[in-house]
Amino acid sequence: MKVVRISIIGFGAVGQGVARSILAKKEFLNDQGIDLCVVGIADSGGCTVDNQGIDLNSALEKKKQTGTIAAGRESVFELISNIEHEIVVEATPTNIENGEPGLSNMLAAFKSGKHIVTSNKGPLALRFSELKEAAEDNGVLFRYEATVGGAVPIFNLIHEDLAGNTVLGIEGILNGTTNYILTRMAEERLPYELVLKEAQELGIAETDPTYDVEGIDSACKLVIIANSVFGKNATYRDVKVTGITKITPEALELASKNNYVVKLVCEAGNGNLTVAPRLVPKRHPLAVGGTLNVASIMTDLAGRITISGKGAGSVETASSILSDILYLVKNS
Ligand code: HSE
Repeated sequence: MKVVRISIIGFGAVGQGVARSILAKKEFLNDQGIDLCVVGIADSGGCTVDNQGIDLNSALEKKKQTGTIAAGRESVFELISNIEHEIVVEATPTNIENGEPGLSNMLAAFKSGKHIVTSNKGPLALRFSELKEAAEDNGVLFRYEATVGGAVPIFNLIHEDLAGNTVLGIEGILNGTTNYILTRMAEERLPYELVLKEAQELGIAETDPTYDVEGIDSACKLVIIANSVFGKNATYRDVKVTGITKITPEALELASKNNYVVKLVCEAGNGNLTVAPRLVPKRHPLAVGGTLNVASIMTDLAGRITISGKGAGSVETASSILSDILYLVKNS
């Protein structure tokens, strides 16, 4: 059995989703000769560490009962740097002002020779090249499938399955909250404020939902795609962004009468990065409804490849994290 030691930094919806997925897939992984052993968990209250492996059921219960995982005296940097393990799952919340605490956590992990798997968009939307170089300089791998599109495997598809292709451009819907709002407003004729509240209740909106509705979350994801796929060194400030706050129910109705839907579309290609509401024909591959995300990738050999799926959610995001962990287990 190959034992792979992991820490989970950030124990909110995503971090807990990772713990639940590791528990749910234990036998499945064991059958493949893999034992994922979580030796440290950190949240904003502190850390818990057990070199023999933390009982994840107890950890999840403790978090539920007390609101924190904190037990030991280690700081998060001591956990990342000093506790022996191979993979740091960085799942702290996105901060697009300065990328912290994720940025420092990732740099500390690289410096101490650990691979990073992350769902945290902030550091990648601000300092992608620096992080990539830090990983390379330290001989470790940097995996970030969960940062864009939740469960939808955009980077693995492009970098692995479409490896022989040149990607000419990408367009997509990368924010579930705005897609949900636009769908509900158009189909049920519900007011903006009400459907925004629904999206918040579904737990998919950002803590500050202006990040969603002003297109900032989409811009961050588009930048991560541009940097990863087109080798750019962009930040989210390089994206031309228009949000959905000025879309009226009348505009949606008029679009519908003419067989169109309005979508917040992200586009990368020809050196341009744009997020803006667009009219999309109702039968177009980008016309996905509800909280779904979609990415349509234009390539030279394969033509257009479109994938769609759940762009947010605890276990859905953990699906991408688990896939990155297994990539590391098999390729490092
Ligand atoms: N607020 C984001 C969304 C969460 O609605 O898509 C996933 O990044």
